[in-house]
Formats: sequence, C-alpha cells, structure tokens
Amino acid sequence: MPAFIEIDTLSKSYIQDQRTIYALQQVSLQIEKGDIYGIIGLSGAGKSTLIRCLSSLVPPSSGRILFSGEDLAQMGKGQLRAFRQKIGMIFQHFNLLSSRTVAENVEYPLEIAKIPQQERAARIETLLKLVGLSEKKDAYPSQLSGGEKQRVGIARALANQPDVLLCDEATSSLDPKTTREILSLLKTIHQKLGITIVLITHEMDVIKSICNKVAVIEKGRIVEKGPVADLFADPQHPTTQHFLQIGAHDIPDEFFKEVSDKRKLLRLRFKGKAAAEPIISELVRKFDVDANILMGWLDRLQTLTIGTLIIELTGKAENVHSALQYLTQQSVHYEVIENGL
Ligand SMILES: Nc1ncnc2c1ncn2[C@@H]1O[C@H](COP(=O)(O)OP(=O)(O)OP(=O)(O)O)[C@@H](O)[C@H]1O
Ligand SMILES: [Mg+2]
Repeated sequence: MPAFIEIDTLSKSYIQDQRTIYALQQVSLQIEKGDIYGIIGLSGAGKSTLIRCLSSLVPPSSGRILFSGEDLAQMGKGQLRAFRQKIGMIFQHFNLLSSRTVAENVEYPLEIAKIPQQERAARIETLLKLVGLSEKKDAYPSQLSGGEKQRVGIARALANQPDVLLCDEATSSLDPKTTREILSLLKTIHQKLGITIVLITHEMDVIKSICNKVAVIEKGRIVEKGPVADLFADPQHPTTQHFLQIGAHDIPDEFFKEVSDKRKLLRLRFKGKAAAEPIISELVRKFDVDANILMGWLDRLQTLTIGTLIIELTGKAENVHSALQYLTQQSVHYEVIENGL
C-alpha cells in the first residue's frame, strides 16, 4: 500500500537576481490517512513552499508528490481540478473576501465547484454550525475578530468536503487563547470528519497540542521526523532541541551565575512521569555524585507525558563521567546545558 501522501525526494529552487535559492532539497515524507502531520521550521526554511507544492500551486523542480499512489505531475487538467477540490487550505492572514459576508465566503468554493443552490445553503449551515459561527453568517470580515475570521477560513476550506486540510501558520496571527480555541476546533474536525491535516508552524506548542507526527525542516531539508512523542522524548538534531527549548520553560539566569568548574548542568527527559525519580537516586548511590534538582515539569502530548528535569551534577570528574555513561546505557535522553567538569 502506498502512503496516503508520499513526498518523494522533492526539491524546489527559485532563480532570483541570477542566484539560485534552494527552497526545498530532497524532501521525503510519508503522510498517512488520518495523520495530523506538523512541519516545523524557522522563517525561510521552506515550509510554505512545501505546502504550495502539496496543493499543486507550485510545480517541483524535481522529485514527486503522490496522493494515494497517483503522481500529481501525471494528472491531466480535469483530474488536477478535481484533485484541488479535495484539498482545503487555511492561511495565516485568513484570505477572506472583504466584500462578501461570512456565509458568502463559505459559499465561494461551492459556486466554483458548481454545487446547486439548495445544497449550498444546507452545507453552509452545517459548516457554520461546526465552526460555531451560525450567528454571524451575515457579518462581514471587517466585523469579525481574528479567531472568528479563521473559523470562516476553516469552514470555507471544508466546503467541498476535502480529504486533506493544509494549514499554513493558521494560528500565527492569533493570541494564545484564540490559538488554543482554533487548535481545539481543528482537533474536533479531525475527529468528526476523519480528515488528514498537514500543519505548518514555527511553534512547538502547536505541534505538541494536536499533531501525532512531526518533521523539522531547516534550510529546505528535513533534519528529523517521526512520531511527536519520540521527538519530544529523544530529540536528535540540534534544531529539534532548539525548538523544544524555546518557549518551553526558560531556565532562570541565576542558575548560570554561579559558574562553577565542579558541576555539570543537565537537561534530562523521561517518557512517562514516574520514570525520573529512581534514575536520579541510582546515580547518587552508584556513582558517588550529588544530583541537585533545579527545575522539573511535565509536557502532556497526545499519547504520552514527557517529564523534563534540570539537574546539577557535582562530584569527582570521573564519577560524573561514569554517571553520564550510565544515563546513556539506561536510554535516558540528556543534554549538557553547562559543562563545568
Ligand atoms: N516565489 C519565490 N521566488 C523566489 N524565492 C522564493 C519564492 N518563494 C519562496 N522563496 C524563497 O524560498 C525560501 C523558502 O521560502 P518559504 O516561503 O517556503 O519559507 P517559510 O518556511 O514558509 O518561511 P516563513 O516562516 O517566513 O513563512 C526563502 O529563501 C524564500 O525567500
Ligand atoms: Mg511561510
């Protein structure tokens, strides 16, 4: 069975001012039906380019995109038109038509798909109910809050009953509370409609709260990918580690003030909340080191809780070294934040 969406060594370059910009390089991803697949990367990493290739708005320079085994590049015009209707898109800046009401915005893709008037009205009603905007059907976009505008965007994207919803920074213009509401709406839609979602973001919190899989993209390349729980528990690439740190829990500056050459500051991650304690006491017992717990917190993912501890290890250098080896043997993921010893 081919993957639902197969992105196969996809590359895209642009020529600008006689310079070649490699926006995507050899990107390969398998997205299964029902996934909420997050793609995270910094500005300019190539996220929007990837979404544009997926939606067939931009042709790849090389590589292929297959939906249910069918190559986008091999599709004829009619087939491509039908395909585009099976893809819904939502955007950071909503892209609503300002001269149309909420209901008329949702109606727009239905007009294009030549859905009969009566069915249109019924679908609009169901969609507005789904996104919680029935009361605002006659309002204009200028009369709506950002969260409400994105709800219209979502209803419009779902109008032609797509199989896939592509979200390009759909919550990046919204405040944290509205972001949570929109993510929760996406989750509900995913459950109710069984739709596959591909979501682009630069925030790990967004990934954490709704995605089951994630790919980290940097300078046009995928540097790490897999189930969200695996990446959180054991991030391999420095960029993934970076995304997990920012915004998570800032380590207070005081922790770094007493620069000591006799300690190592570590960040440990554990799958499950109960795993941490026995490991720390074993370290102390077995290796004659002191472990001082400075901070600890839990991240609740979709399927798993990840515990993080910031600890300070002190003791003889060789003992601390053996303690770290022991952590590795026990498959405890750690990063050295400050390296005294
Ligand atoms: N039409 C274009 N012509 C030339 N260069 C482009 C074009 N579109 C994108 N690029 C370049 O490709 C690279 C990737 O851009 P892209 O918009 O995919 O990044 P992004 O990850 O979506 O960034 P952001 O988070 O800022 O939206 C950038 O260097 C960008 O300047
Ligand atoms: Mg972008």
